[in-house]
Amino acid sequence: MAKIVIKKSPPLQGEVTVSTSKNAVLPIIAASILTDEDIIIYQTPKLTDVMYMLRILRGFGAYAKYEKGTLLINSRDIHRCEGLLNSVKRLRSSFLFMGPLLTKTGCVRMPMPGGCRIGIRPIDLHVRGLQRLGADIITKDGWVIGTAKRLKGTDIYLDYPSVGATENIMMAAVLAEGTTTIKNAASEPEIADLANFLNRMGARVGGAGTNNIRIRGVKRVKGTAYTPIPDRIEAGTMMMAGAINGGDIVIKNADLGHLTPLSSKLMEAGAEIHPLPDAVRVTCKRPLKAQSVTASPYPGFPTDLQAQFAALAATMRGTSIIMETVFENRFMYAAELIKMGADIRVEGRTAVVRGIDRLNGATVKATDLRAGAALILAGLAADNETVIEDIYHIDRGYEKIEEKLRILGADIVRI
Ligand code: EPZ
Repeated sequence: MAKIVIKKSPPLQGEVTVSTSKNAVLPIIAASILTDEDIIIYQTPKLTDVMYMLRILRGFGAYAKYEKGTLLINSRDIHRCEGLLNSVKRLRSSFLFMGPLLTKTGCVRMPMPGGCRIGIRPIDLHVRGLQRLGADIITKDGWVIGTAKRLKGTDIYLDYPSVGATENIMMAAVLAEGTTTIKNAASEPEIADLANFLNRMGARVGGAGTNNIRIRGVKRVKGTAYTPIPDRIEAGTMMMAGAINGGDIVIKNADLGHLTPLSSKLMEAGAEIHPLPDAVRVTCKRPLKAQSVTASPYPGFPTDLQAQFAALAATMRGTSIIMETVFENRFMYAAELIKMGADIRVEGRTAVVRGIDRLNGATVKATDLRAGAALILAGLAADNETVIEDIYHIDRGYEKIEEKLRILGADIVRI
């Protein structure tokens, strides 16, 4: 199995460009089902999650060609509405096909998406929202089976601002009859980006990016070409890579407007954050002071940056309190950081991180995507050599991360 090996690296210097957002591209691929015309998505990152989504899309009978970052999709020939079992099981985001398939073809059969290491991740909010739009949905023998004539717009309230449920309901409402409102919707930037894409196709979505979204149903939508937003989680990960060993780096294709919680924490800790056009410069000349964060739905501190922040906190002066309010099991990285000498105590949804002077390299395992990123950050600042196993988790959400960090001067190789 491939591994990533990191040696103690000099402070990172130079420029790196982040890819377009995984969490914007995945729902946009699902939304492409809504039209029979060509969809072109530029700068699509080469991620295993993206490749799985395309495999499932082809399984429905759609055409999808990925070449040098450009993705061409045509769903005219979709003739099956059943998701490929093993691919769906491996990729939770495949459940985003539910809404578009239902509203376009009137039928859908998807295996119940697996939970994953960070939590059970139920789909009750997705199912209830689609039922409110008039779909008949049953779960039987591990399958979710939906049928619908033309969906009818209605008012929907989400008990929790679920990103996926907001996206699924929004996509289903695009071709529904009449108007749909989603209250207590998730407001992540990727949702606004999905809405922009849908409106480019001729949909009528308003309010995306706020907690109240309105969708006016249309009869059909057309093909379009689109470039999704930059990946704010990759950008945030790179900002912390620059900060963790006193670097001075420029992160291009980064929208600092999507990273306020992180940039304000880094500045409070003593790093300097310089906004540039379409980029951000991070310099860190002095030891950072401990900060406490609470991971919560947007615009709160992103849960997808929580593990990486803990790695940074492990080397800060003082004690940081990290609370996770989104997922129930997102501290699995702690045991791996402790192997590197970190002083972390986890109690329920809170981690208490006492900063130490130096982490020490060790052989560690990526337990999930963002935990893997956290271990890479820790390896950059640790003495000796860090070997990270199970890096397939990291490849789900980061495109060539070791090449990007090598450009910044990191001593990092994939073996
Ligand atoms: C999206 O997952 C992201 N994935 C996640 O990123 C991200 O961590 C998460 O949103 C929160 O921001 C994609 O966009 C592909 P949720 P999603 O539905 O949609 C509960 C990464 O590392 N919930 O907002 O699955 C759920 O259990 C990944 O890139 C229900 O109870 O997140 C969780 O506790 C990880 N019922 C909370 O809501 C439901 O029907 C947040 O889940 C749905 C969700």
